[in-house]
Amino acid sequence: MASEQGFCLWFTGLSGSGKTTITTHLVKELRRRGSKLEVLDGDIVRENLSKGLGFSKEDRDTNIRRIAFVADLLSRNDVPVITAAISPYREIRDEARKKMGDRFIEIYAQAPLEVCEERDVKGLYAKARSGEIKEFTGISDPYEAPLNPEMSIETEGRTPEECAAEIVANLEKLGFLSPVAEEAIV
Ligand SMILES: Nc1ncnc2c1ncn2[C@@H]1O[C@H](COP(=O)(O)OP(=O)(O)OP(=O)(O)O)[C@@H](O)[C@H]1O
Ligand SMILES: [Mg+2]
Repeated sequence: MASEQGFCLWFTGLSGSGKTTITTHLVKELRRRGSKLEVLDGDIVRENLSKGLGFSKEDRDTNIRRIAFVADLLSRNDVPVITAAISPYREIRDEARKKMGDRFIEIYAQAPLEVCEERDVKGLYAKARSGEIKEFTGISDPYEAPLNPEMSIETEGRTPEECAAEIVANLEKLGFLSPVAEEAIV
């Protein structure tokens, strides 16, 4: 059954923590249930809506505020949104929370820095360590972990499918999704 109300799944976490990967699985499962859905992935937003912005605190904040603005527009019109950007600063995430109120569901994609660095999906940690990339979150730029997220999802030693299934189950518990009779395939 389609979801009945808009919500915003707001991922936060280090680069390589699994935000995009889990989002891909969530999209599959939510669409399977007939849900409307939009995704604002950090990399894609930076290629479009935030093209030209850098990684200073000011530019990062502007980027996240833009994501929150669009997420609010969609979710208040009952289109569920998933945002998957590092969103390193607690204060700006809290601004997004304030804007969206009960629709805002913060998900901490949690993996130790060493694990994210070991994964180094995009080769960016190596570049950050060598100094080729400045202002890299977790290495040379801050990451402020959420203090009280709605969900905290460990991604180390688990599959992305397991993580996505846990989120779907939590959304059912929170009343954002109707449970489905058959086993969820994520
Ligand atoms: N349980 C898990 N959940 C998600 N990803 C996992 C998990 N276990 C291993 N991985 C792997 O970790 C990597 C996560 O990379 P991903 O691009 O999703 O991170 P990200 O948080 O979107 O990073 P970035 O902020 O740089 O976009 C992938 O290679 C994925 O296969
Ligand atoms: Mg990503």
